[in-house]
Amino acid sequence: MDVISVIRTKRDRGELSPEQIDWVIDAYTRGVVADEQMSALAMAILLNGMNRAEIKRWTAAMIASGERMNFDSLSRPTADKHSTGGVGDKITLPLAPLVAACGAAVPQLSGRGLGHTGGTLDKLESIPGWRALLSNEEMLHVLDTTGAVICAAGDGLAPADKKLYALRDVTGTVEAIPLIASSIMSKKIAEGTGSLVLDVKVGTGAFMKNIEDARELASTMVALGTDSGVKTIALLTDMSTPLGLTAGNALEIRESVEVLAGGGPSDVVELTLALAREMLDAAGIKDADPAKALADGSAMDVWRRMISAQGGDPDAALPVAREQHVVTAPSSGVLTRLDAYGVGVGAWRLGAGRARKEDPVQAGAGIELPAKPGDTVTAGQPLMTLHTDTPEKFEYALASLEGTYDIAPAGTAFSATPIVLD
Ligand code: URA
Repeated sequence: MDVISVIRTKRDRGELSPEQIDWVIDAYTRGVVADEQMSALAMAILLNGMNRAEIKRWTAAMIASGERMNFDSLSRPTADKHSTGGVGDKITLPLAPLVAACGAAVPQLSGRGLGHTGGTLDKLESIPGWRALLSNEEMLHVLDTTGAVICAAGDGLAPADKKLYALRDVTGTVEAIPLIASSIMSKKIAEGTGSLVLDVKVGTGAFMKNIEDARELASTMVALGTDSGVKTIALLTDMSTPLGLTAGNALEIRESVEVLAGGGPSDVVELTLALAREMLDAAGIKDADPAKALADGSAMDVWRRMISAQGGDPDAALPVAREQHVVTAPSSGVLTRLDAYGVGVGAWRLGAGRARKEDPVQAGAGIELPAKPGDTVTAGQPLMTLHTDTPEKFEYALASLEGTYDIAPAGTAFSATPIVLD
């Protein structure tokens, strides 16, 4: 087998054979196929697609590139959730402890932010002492003793995806349905969860900009999970505007703790509860009431135990950025649009995200959004508060926020987009 013939097959719109797929994933993982060759193949896949049989084989080959975990020793059913990525998407933070408080075990292998989308691990690392890297034994121990664990995938799990995802990120090949579906599902199937709820984001702040593409991605992933014996469900959810009132690492931790304390923004609470109900249903837990577990503090108790078990101090003060800059409303009226992509890029430029994989992030950087679409605003009131430790970044961030919102005259009718689209 040689890599050039594999690239040519896909370049010329052919179907990759199972042998070609197994060989190229294995050879890339071992360093026999070079990055430039794999990026040519990834681009050919982005442009010419793969059929379901090819995607299934590609996913299986990525799983086979590493180890598989299993949670058979746990007494509770396992349920996991994965979001395809968005702006202000802090849902994993209240959701994992909430679902654990309702009786499931939640093994949540999470990622870091890249580009304009935030990463759960970057957010949690703003809690002093908290550790993302756990051995498989530590992960199982935290899961067993607290009911939930949020951590980085170990090096042994789907190593082909680790290499390929980093490569796609710098070669403009992220937004390919076959590559996204196989990347997410290889990790989730290798992880060994019994059930999985996928939060497939749609809108300007998501990788899938329209509902047809999001539906295709969702149904591809559901088929991959189901064929592997993982009970898999997908929700299509809105990502045209940021979730909640914050985008940025420590800012989102603070907001998530508010949700766990029974408060927080209504859209975050609504999506957290919707996903919790799906996860509990998929795990076969019928008699739990997630709204009650938020209100009575039992989800908060799991959060505190989970953070402490990973070295974090749930009572520690969270980092605050050294400098703030307030953007005010230029006129009075109804805020009819607040664009997720622009806010995501703004938060990223302020230091909440990284441009290269190895860049550090600022814990306190990000954007607070006191007004949401549908709110009445008064000229001069704060619309966005930008936070950063490096004020020279304000100008660059402000450029990305130009044109990100619309204010219509007072009394203009506004109809909100539902959070759960399908
Ligand atoms: N999340 C992943 O894990 N992989 C992708 O390709 C996109 C989002």
